Amino acid sequence: MLKSQQEKNNLSSTQLNTVIEELKRLINFLVTDSRKEHVFGVMKFSDRLAQRLSLNIEKRQKLFVAALAHDLFRDIEVHKMIQMAKAYGLDISSTENKRPILLHSKIAAEFLRIRFKIDDEEILEAIRYHTSGHKCMGLLSKIIFVSDSLEETRVYEGVEKLRKMIFENFEKGFFEVLKNKLNYVVKNNLILLEDSVELWNELILKGVK
Ligand SMILES: [Fe+2]
Ligand SMILES: [Fe+2]
Repeated sequence: MLKSQQEKNNLSSTQLNTVIEELKRLINFLVTDSRKEHVFGVMKFSDRLAQRLSLNIEKRQKLFVAALAHDLFRDIEVHKMIQMAKAYGLDISSTENKRPILLHSKIAAEFLRIRFKIDDEEILEAIRYHTSGHKCMGLLSKIIFVSDSLEETRVYEGVEKLRKMIFENFEKGFFEVLKNKLNYVVKNNLILLEDSVELWNELILKGVK
């Protein structure tokens, strides 16, 4: 490896560590205690998956950042979410307008981009799509998406089976986590997000089952 390349990588690793420490500090006063447990659960679960999938240390650091940031604004008041989204110049869809809580994903990604100058799309999309998923999402986004549903504080029927499946066959497990999430949404008369539907259709068209 060229020395300049090595320095660049080292620097980015140092920067990521700084962001990780800063996020841990922010979490203490931005999220509730139970959410904090969930966030650290996502961090732990996603790292176990990263090791299972033999991801390198850089990808694991990126996952730490995404896990720590994904619900950073989940517990702030709804009117503040709207304020932040407007201040960041984000497009607010009609669904988000009616359910502003959905904005917490986009806001967190934008906060990271502006506050920490993070322009790494793998990190940003993992945060942005952690609730809905997206038909174009990459591996790190998929890891955060499933970890959000499978981390150790989550308790619901079938969670153990899904946890086992994700370590045996990641793509199959991902499909089943999405399916379970969509089933839950329909069963409880919740909002079916367009990105989730598109992702579902994409997987069906690819023949995943
Ligand atoms: Fe969330
Ligand atoms: Fe979450």
